[in-house]
Amino acid sequence: MKLKKFFRYYSIPIVTICSLYLGLSTSSVNAGDVNKVYKDTCELCHGADGKGTEAGKQFGVPDFSDPHYQSSRTDVQMKESMINGTKNPNYVKLSDLGVDPADLDPLIGIVRGFGGK
Ligand code: HEC
Repeated sequence: MKLKKFFRYYSIPIVTICSLYLGLSTSSVNAGDVNKVYKDTCELCHGADGKGTEAGKQFGVPDFSDPHYQSSRTDVQMKESMINGTKNPNYVKLSDLGVDPADLDPLIGIVRGFGGK
């Protein structure tokens, strides 16, 4: 019991310090930057431009740069898909990819950014 408590309270700062260190050593951008999360975790399927990579298209990713797609989904719907997955069996819950729930809103911001105007 006591040991579990220890880990619950102290593992978070340790992880944070490690990721801060990694963030600072690999780039000059602020640590905890969601752009980095996107690059490391999402780009594989969604591509640097949000249109979807070849692999992503085979999985059935939407084209984030398509205004029709953008207007077809609300932020709430997107978030719901990101948290629970969708009917598409190729789409994994983002928590399974190790994404911090606190990053979901800023990630939606990035996804919306691909929509341009
Ligand atoms: C293994 C490939 C893969 C990875 C990695 C991936 N996605 Fe996706 N994503 C998909 C697929 C496939 C869909 C389409 C799901 C569907 O239409 O049911 C999708 C859909 C989405 C949607 C739209 C959901 C909706 O309801 O319209 C968002 C937003 C999204 N992804 C964000 C992300 C973010 C942010 C990351 C990185 C943290 C990420 N995805 C990583 C494959 C991936």
